[in-house]
Amino acid sequence: MEQIVINGGRPLVGTVEVSGSKNAALPILFATILTSDICTIENVPEISDVSLTLEILREMGAKVKEIDKNTFEIDTREAQSGRSSYELVRQMRASTYIMGVELGRFGNAKVGWPGGCNFGLRPIDQHIKAFEALGASYENANGFISITSDKLIGSSIYFDTVSVGATVNAIMASVLAEGTTVIENAAKEPHIVDLANFLNTCGASVRGAGTDVIKVNGCKKLHGCSYAIIPDMIEAGTYMIAAAATKGKLKIENVIPKHLESITAKLCEMQVDVEEDDDFVIVSYGGKLVNVNVKTQPYPGFPTDMHPQMSALMCLAQGTGRITEGVFENRFRYVEEFARMGASIEVAGETAIIEGGKPLNSAPVRAVDLRAGAAMIIAGLSANGKTVIYDIESIERGYDNIVSKLKALGADIEKIEV
Ligand code: EPZ
Repeated sequence: MEQIVINGGRPLVGTVEVSGSKNAALPILFATILTSDICTIENVPEISDVSLTLEILREMGAKVKEIDKNTFEIDTREAQSGRSSYELVRQMRASTYIMGVELGRFGNAKVGWPGGCNFGLRPIDQHIKAFEALGASYENANGFISITSDKLIGSSIYFDTVSVGATVNAIMASVLAEGTTVIENAAKEPHIVDLANFLNTCGASVRGAGTDVIKVNGCKKLHGCSYAIIPDMIEAGTYMIAAAATKGKLKIENVIPKHLESITAKLCEMQVDVEEDDDFVIVSYGGKLVNVNVKTQPYPGFPTDMHPQMSALMCLAQGTGRITEGVFENRFRYVEEFARMGASIEVAGETAIIEGGKPLNSAPVRAVDLRAGAAMIIAGLSANGKTVIYDIESIERGYDNIVSKLKALGADIEKIEV
């Protein structure tokens, strides 16, 4: 059992390099199954969700060779459908992508019902809607999802709700279908664009990614390619908030500032200084923090994956702030952990009302999910005294070497084996 121990109250100062995007790497690694060739994927983050994905690819029959800790050569010639194990699949929501790639490549798919962070129901009805629109049929028996089709035919799909996963699966299931597929009310996240760019580098024809209408012209076959993953906008945003929360100054390198616009705008509203350049931002505490109202929305709105981290900063800001969760049913499990640190947060429906303006107290807390865990680290870094964070495996799912990166910025932080 591992814990993170922080002696907080010290400003973060220095330069940090952002790693590849988790939410782009996972779909792109699964999408190599569609090429039946060899792909080299670069700038892959060193996180446990990636290790799990590579293990699942091996179960599916792919050969995975580690070139270095961020580069993998994946040979999917021998891959087959229906071979992933429930033991692995159940650990990660991104396992839903197995459905899209197996259906796209083989015309059928079989996968255990996926798990993942538990913030409310995480249905897959929109994924199924996309598969059925392409002519596939779906059955859910004994905890396994089976999808079969004689031939996938391009079609029109209009999503009832904006869904990153369903948009990813609709693209992956349709790239090798016969004819054209039009996906409307599609998610516009940068990782959708990255997936489309990867597939187009493999010879696919995916147009309009990044807008809410994506057109996929099916092709016969995809070839392999070499491809580098975009930087992780949520990791970048997490360090931006950590700089402000610890009254520090950070140069955050290897970012795409456009992807950070909603985060930058909100931090500037709070009187945080943010300087932008081509591929880095410099974030510094501006002498005070003024509270704000935030509503999480699909991209380009304020990201739901920045919700707990922003709440940590709002606890420290002067005045009352409100953060409304506009994407998931319930992403407030972090609130009780903040309460242990003396925060005054009241949840009313899908809004948390935060009375800020006083420091947080160090305390033993839990990382209840990936982004809540990051928020606990930010809170511990800002609080004087010793904070111990339990259940840190959820943090390791999505943050590449966060403890060593923070140590290099002056944090007194350790990961200990208990
Ligand atoms: C992806 O999850 C991300 N995960 C999440 O990041 C992220 O929070 C989320 O997108 C939103 O940006 C990965 O990319 C691996 P959704 P996903 O489908 O695809 C509802 C992190 O911290 N919905 O966009 O599962 C759903 O319940 C993780 O990195 C349906 O109703 O999210 C939710 O309310 C956490 N039916 C909303 O849509 C469906 O069929 C958005 O979910 C699918 C989704």
